[in-house]
Amino acid sequence: MAETKCVALVHEEFGKPEEVLRLQEVDLAPLQQGEVLIRMEAAAIHPSDLGMVGGSYGHLRELPAVGGREGVGTVVEVGSGVPGSWEGKRVRLPEGPGVWRSMQIARAEQLSEVPAEVPADQAALSAVNPTTAIRLLSDFADLQEGDWVVQNAGNSAVGVAVIQLAKARGIKTASLVRREELMKPLQEQGADLVVIDDRSAAEAIREARGDARMPLGLNSIGGSSVLNLAQSVSDVGTIVTFGGMTGEKIRFPTRHLIFNDIRFCGFWMDKWNQKNGARAQQDLLNEVYREILNGSLKTPVEKVYPLASYKEALEHNGSGRFGKVLFGNV
Ligand SMILES: NC(=O)c1ccc[n+]([C@@H]2O[C@H](COP(=O)([O-])OP(=O)(O)OC[C@H]3O[C@@H](n4cnc5c(N)ncnc54)[C@H](OP(=O)(O)O)[C@@H]3O)[C@@H](O)[C@H]2O)c1
Repeated sequence: MAETKCVALVHEEFGKPEEVLRLQEVDLAPLQQGEVLIRMEAAAIHPSDLGMVGGSYGHLRELPAVGGREGVGTVVEVGSGVPGSWEGKRVRLPEGPGVWRSMQIARAEQLSEVPAEVPADQAALSAVNPTTAIRLLSDFADLQEGDWVVQNAGNSAVGVAVIQLAKARGIKTASLVRREELMKPLQEQGADLVVIDDRSAAEAIREARGDARMPLGLNSIGGSSVLNLAQSVSDVGTIVTFGGMTGEKIRFPTRHLIFNDIRFCGFWMDKWNQKNGARAQQDLLNEVYREILNGSLKTPVEKVYPLASYKEALEHNGSGRFGKVLFGNV
């Protein structure tokens, strides 16, 4: 094997990513039978990656660990006994060993090929957020054309995917954001209504939707933002919590629970994947690739950084941005 080492973002303890991550040289063992070597092309930075490094996520890696859960790369070398012609193909990086690394060894049976026409950055942003957006729009309400969905963190990658996919299905979206400058870019993505997540938001949303149904609210923030969702959805509406960016407990208005019969529930893509199995995961990914290729779905990308500039990348990721920050072979 030509390559004997790679670089990776490693942490030996749980903590703030900017404090505990280090760029390290990591040995690559010689390829064993049935293994391939993949060169990373693009790897996402998601809130759940930061939660995994921080020690707060729903499942954690054994330490020392390499960060990152989602990315794609090119197969650059194939070991003996690997069926098919994998060399040169773009594949998903298996999540287990962490994807914030320049090279990864994987077993051929773990490989999931990415259609060549899907750009590397979009492929690296497919399996966590757009899949979640599809499940959120499909599994919790019987949404009909003309119905509305309300969400907070409208500018998040999930939020933008919800806006784009809803638009393609004739469903309207009301998106809460916390920065004025996000209104125009979100409208350009197809958002029907964008409002600042403050005390007047629910009234503005109710006015915009008029008599139309709003059976679904999507919460990835927590805290008082959920009051706005609960005060916006129609009677018997469902509010799905799938993220907690503020870290604050969810607040809900008692009278809306009683008089409007609002329902609260949660969603975790990892659990969906576990429950539904590899075949269903691949079908869902194929659906995302189709939406990308037919132009219905495109995750905005803010900037791509080399692994070596990880401190800058993390800082940029935590600042006011529109679009995802990625690692890549730049
Ligand atoms: N349950 C699941 O299976 C699942 C799957 C995918 C994603 N998620 C969750 O979905 C959420 C969005 O993920 P993403 O990758 O789409 O995010 P992202 O693109 O990285 O965007 C992060 C979003 O969170 C907002 N935000 C950050 N800190 C905040 C705070 N303290 N208060 C209010 N808003 C805050 C940001 O607003 P600004 O731009 O104004 O900073 C931005 O809208 C996350 O909570 C993530 O964990 C859950």
